[in-house]
Amino acid sequence: MKVIKLAAVALTLVLAACAQEQDSTTAANEVASRDLQPADAQLAEIYNRSCRSCHTVAATGSPLTGDTAAWQPRMGKGMNTLLDSVVNGFGGMPPFGLCMDCGAEEFEALILFMAGEQK
Ligand code: HEC
Repeated sequence: MKVIKLAAVALTLVLAACAQEQDSTTAANEVASRDLQPADAQLAEIYNRSCRSCHTVAATGSPLTGDTAAWQPRMGKGMNTLLDSVVNGFGGMPPFGLCMDCGAEEFEALILFMAGEQK
């Protein structure tokens, strides 16, 4: 009985440590995402008034800017699907990602930038 209890305590500690590590990774990714800006000034302006407000805040559930691991499965859907997601809205993301005057070209550049595939 005592052994089982000890094992349960050990397991709880391991799980707690894992959860904490997950949290600190997310927090570090969040801090890192805030320093990233598209090199192009016009794209940066669009990014700052739209995508950035959510894609640098982990609590929104969005893939964070520069978090390549989070973007990998998204990029795997293909650019056309991702553009559809932005235009129509997807999960917690409103249609056009709050950039009403953006076209496909801008959305594609913003996605590549956030996914860490273009700076
Ligand atoms: C109001 C918050 C918000 C804003 C603003 C926003 N997004 Fe998002 N975005 C999200 C959330 C939340 C998700 C994850 C949705 C999910 O997986 O359920 C997401 C996911 C995405 C995805 C992945 C879609 C998929 O099919 O997996 C792309 C691409 C994307 N956003 C691009 C953009 C771009 C480009 C902008 C700026 C023009 C933008 N987002 C602005 C919240 C936002």
